[in-house]
Amino acid sequence: MPNLATNYLGLDLSSPIIAASSGLTDSIEKLIELEVHGAGAIVLKSLFEEEIIMEMDEKIHAMTSRPYVYPETFDYMDEDPQEDTVRKYLRLIKEAKAAVSVPIIASINCVSAQKWTYFAREIEKAGADALEINLFVLPMDMNRTGDENEQIYYDVLKTVKDQVALPIALKISPYHSNLSNLIKRLDDMNVDGIVMFNRFYSPDFDIKDLSVTNGQILSGPDDYKNSLRWTGIMSERVKCSIAGTTGIHTSESIIKHLLAGADAVQLASVLYKNGPEYIDVLSKEIYAWMEEHGFKSIRDFKGKMSQSKSNDPAAFERVQFMKQFRNFVM
Ligand SMILES: Cc1cc2nc3c(=O)[nH]c(=O)nc-3n(C[C@H](O)[C@H](O)[C@H](O)COP(=O)(O)O)c2cc1C
Repeated sequence: MPNLATNYLGLDLSSPIIAASSGLTDSIEKLIELEVHGAGAIVLKSLFEEEIIMEMDEKIHAMTSRPYVYPETFDYMDEDPQEDTVRKYLRLIKEAKAAVSVPIIASINCVSAQKWTYFAREIEKAGADALEINLFVLPMDMNRTGDENEQIYYDVLKTVKDQVALPIALKISPYHSNLSNLIKRLDDMNVDGIVMFNRFYSPDFDIKDLSVTNGQILSGPDDYKNSLRWTGIMSERVKCSIAGTTGIHTSESIIKHLLAGADAVQLASVLYKNGPEYIDVLSKEIYAWMEEHGFKSIRDFKGKMSQSKSNDPAAFERVQFMKQFRNFVM
């Protein structure tokens, strides 16, 4: 039987299929199910920067009347009998580590390198194997430059790296003025992994009653192409791990990402649609494909179709429908 083991963020995973941060990863029962069905690692549902700061500020205010947060805040908070969202999150990490043996990756959703970064140390103390930082600033402020927005990424990474020895992954969007430069700079700062790309909530319109509605919550099976392109371009240029995410719904799209050089993939929508047991189906299909091609381990084919190793490196950079498609008809 081929071996699905891989290494991601310096962690040994039994499979490249990671359960992405979502409502599917917010309780011990769900984590056990994901492990039973073969997830190689689990990213816990994110805690949000605002939640951390609000609760820390409230407690500090109540205790000292000083509106500042010090690293020792958590020592005081430990003595507080009332459990808040932040404490519950740390308990989830501790219980998860006791309940499952796959790596547990904590997740923070943030927009700044502010006070919340002290919390990274608490996550480390609680026993998480790594921390994934989901960082996105919607570039709506016309007075800020792209560089100023991107500086937040470097500040967050530096501040958190200074606090903890945990492996750190950054979950990023594709919306940057120079994506490869951003990723390279993060890699030079020793980020342990890049998760590309986050999928965002997008509003939609109802043209019957002219109201704003929810856009599509789940991705579709064709949404993986952007992540595939950039995995292929970046995997041979950086030393950090890469996890593909968004629109990865089939064993075929998982294999494509591994061929492009991803170390792992993160799935949410397809598990919402088919349940955690679908990981078994995907794994069996990957085994069958590996056997068919004589691959014994992921190492045997990972990166075989990264940009320079593919038979058409220029295709990764092709963005316009040029002459190749001039005679395209349906
Ligand atoms: C209902 C739902 C909740 C999610 N919650 C989070 C979250 O708390 N933190 C996070 O980083 N990503 C969250 N995501 C994004 C997923 O982790 C994943 O990156 C994204 O859905 C793309 O993968 P997919 O196409 O397999 O769904 C959520 C996605 C869904 C559908």
